[in-house]
Amino acid sequence: MKYELLDFNIHGNHDGNLVALESKQNIPFDIKRVYYIWGTKRDIIRGKHAHLKLEQVIVCVSGSCDFILDDGQERQSIHLDNPAKGLYIKHNIWREFTNFSPDCVIMVLASEHYDEADYIREYETFRKEIK
Ligand code: TYD
Repeated sequence: MKYELLDFNIHGNHDGNLVALESKQNIPFDIKRVYYIWGTKRDIIRGKHAHLKLEQVIVCVSGSCDFILDDGQERQSIHLDNPAKGLYIKHNIWREFTNFSPDCVIMVLASEHYDEADYIREYETFRKEIK
């Protein structure tokens, strides 16, 4: 399965905690885009797509949620609830995410600008693509 959980260094003191994310330092690619998602109801399933080229690091900066990753061979569920961890997903991985806590905020760092042509939105097309 083409994913990794990245551990970020926390600069913590009596004022609280800070994590810094930098291209080609603790993020494996040049960051071209950042987006964030919040206010999603618990049972909604988002995602349901794979990418042809895009790489992403996903950080659950508040609350928690579950990512279900599928590489066509196996399915794995990853619980994200720690702002000091990043889920690094490379291309050709089908992802769904759900089980959002009310305070869940997900921040996504992406290696490319938004391009609908990079999405595979049909699961059967994804299965054919990875063969
Ligand atoms: P989508 O990728 O389907 O969201 P998710 O996978 O989280 O369920 O995107 C939802 C909408 O937002 C869709 O209309 C496309 C738009 N969008 C952008 O305009 N720019 C972006 O960078 C992203 C990720 C989505």
